[in-house]
Amino acid sequence: MKAITVTPGTAGSVSLKEVPEPTPKPRQLLLKVLKVGICGTDMDIVNGFYGEAPPGSPYLILGHESLSRVESIGPGCKGFKKGDLVVPTVRRGCLENCLNCRNGESDMCLTGHYKEHGIKGLHGFASELTVSDSRFVVKLPESLSEVGVLLEPLTIVEKGIEQAFRIQNARMKWKPSTALVLGSGPVGLLATALLRQMGLAVTTVARKPADTPKARLASSTGATYVDVQARPLSSMEDKFDLVFEATGSTSVALEAQNLCGTNGVVSFIGIYKSQAETEDAGKVFTNLVLGNRVYFGSVNANISYFRQGASDLVKIRRKWNGFLEGILTNHIPLAEAESAYVPKGEDDVKTVLEME
Ligand code: BGC
Repeated sequence: MKAITVTPGTAGSVSLKEVPEPTPKPRQLLLKVLKVGICGTDMDIVNGFYGEAPPGSPYLILGHESLSRVESIGPGCKGFKKGDLVVPTVRRGCLENCLNCRNGESDMCLTGHYKEHGIKGLHGFASELTVSDSRFVVKLPESLSEVGVLLEPLTIVEKGIEQAFRIQNARMKWKPSTALVLGSGPVGLLATALLRQMGLAVTTVARKPADTPKARLASSTGATYVDVQARPLSSMEDKFDLVFEATGSTSVALEAQNLCGTNGVVSFIGIYKSQAETEDAGKVFTNLVLGNRVYFGSVNANISYFRQGASDLVKIRRKWNGFLEGILTNHIPLAEAESAYVPKGEDDVKTVLEME
C-alpha cells in the first residue's frame, strides 16, 4: 500500500512509498483512511526539527489528523461495524504506565515517554490502510464525512478551553462573557467557533486585513475581527475574561497577558521559539499577581476531548453552514502528496490529503 513517510531528522525526506499493509492485532481495528490533515507539527517533522520513527523502522509514516472508515474488526473490539466513520486519538500512554496514563489521561503523561501516532515512536495515519487500538477510536456521524478530519485540531481547542473553565471554576465563581482568540489559523478559527458556540463575545485578532478569507471565516461566526496591522495589540484597551493564544509567536504570547482581565485566564497552545525577550519579566509577574490571573499551557488531548469535539463539530456545522468546509482550503490527492508539504499562501487555511 502507499504511505507518506519521512526519515525523522532529515529535512526534505518526505516521500510517497510502497510499504507493507498493517495486520491488526487483537483489540485493533483495520481502518481505510479517507482524509489526512496537515498542520504545523507535520511541517516541523518534514523540515527535520521533530519526529521519531517507531523502534526498528528506518522511516515514520506521517499523519495524526485523520478521518477513516472501519475496514475490519479484530477480536476484542467492541461497538464498531464495517463502514463506521471514525477518528483515532494521537497519543498512547507511557511504558511505565504513570499515574495519568493509567487514568486514561496520557495527554497529561508525567514521564514524557508517551508515543504519538505520526509524530513520536508510532506510525501515523497517512497510508491507505492503518490500524488503531479500538479503545482510542471515536465514531462520527455521517454528517461529518467531509469535515470530520478537523476533529483532531478541534480537540486541542476543546482541552485548552475546558481546562481554563475547570481551573477558573475551582478557584472562584466565574461567569466569563468575553474571549480573545489570538491567531486565525485552523486552531484559532476553531477556537473562535467553539467559544461563540458557548455564547461568549469573541474577538479574534490576526495579521490580515478584514476582507481576507481567514478574517471572513472568523467574522462569519459573529466574532469581532481585528487586523493587528491596522490596530496593534499594544493599543487595545479591552481586557478579556479568557485569552486563547494560538499564534505560536513569542511576542504575541507576551502581549497576551496584557489583554487578560482581572481574575482572567490565558490558555497557551503554541510551540514558542526562544528569542531575546523585550518584555519586562517583573511587569509580567506583577500583572499576574495583582490581577489574580492564571496562565497555563495545554498540549494534546485524550479521548474525552475527542468525544466532546465530535458533538461540537456537529453543532458548529449546523450553526455556521460552510464554516468548517471553508477551513479546508486545499485538497491534494494522495498521488501528489509530496507537494502537499510546502508552505502555502497567506489565504490558505488547511491542506487535506484525499487518500482514496
Ligand atoms: C498534535 C498533538 C501533539 C503535539 C505535540 C500537535 O500537532 O495535535 O496531539 O501532542 O502536536 O507532539
